[in-house]
Amino acid sequence: MRTPWMAPLALLALAGCDDTLYGSTEVVEGEGYDAVVSVFDGSCVSCHSDAGASSFGNLSLEGDPCDMVDAPASAYATDSNGDPAYLIVAGDSGASVLWHKVEDSGAFGGVMPPGAKMDQANIDIIANWIDQDAAGDCAAR
Ligand code: HEC
Repeated sequence: MRTPWMAPLALLALAGCDDTLYGSTEVVEGEGYDAVVSVFDGSCVSCHSDAGASSFGNLSLEGDPCDMVDAPASAYATDSNGDPAYLIVAGDSGASVLWHKVEDSGAFGGVMPPGAKMDQANIDIIANWIDQDAAGDCAAR
């Protein structure tokens, strides 16, 4: 049986569900550079802004994601093998501190955003962009 008041109720239930699972983060659709920027806008720049970066790992995520390619992480100078750790290694998400943080691998401290992993779709957008597109997208910069 369908009654008109059930639709708003269902929406409320959905919104409540999102809050529990993903905190204030936003699930992004799409792929590639623009989708990565949308993930950062929806889930990261509340802390990682140009103005606030110094309090949050010295990292602003308001700008060009390509700025992170081959940039050393501030808090994590080396990986567990003693090799230099970079925020993004184009073509290799597994070597990218950024991916370890959103995937909660534990290799470089706690998960980003703090508290709970994002929806897997957001994490995949970042991983796929690093693995497939970052080298090409960032080569000309
Ligand atoms: C509630 C605030 C907050 C949010 C939201 C947040 N971060 Fe962070 N972030 C921090 C803090 C605090 C640190 C420093 C501690 C640490 O490294 O875990 C940090 C550090 C980092 C670092 C390590 C930087 C370095 O060079 O050492 C990365 C990478 C990072 N965040 C990525 C992200 C990404 C990507 C998102 C969004 C998906 C995100 N963060 C969302 C607070 C936040």
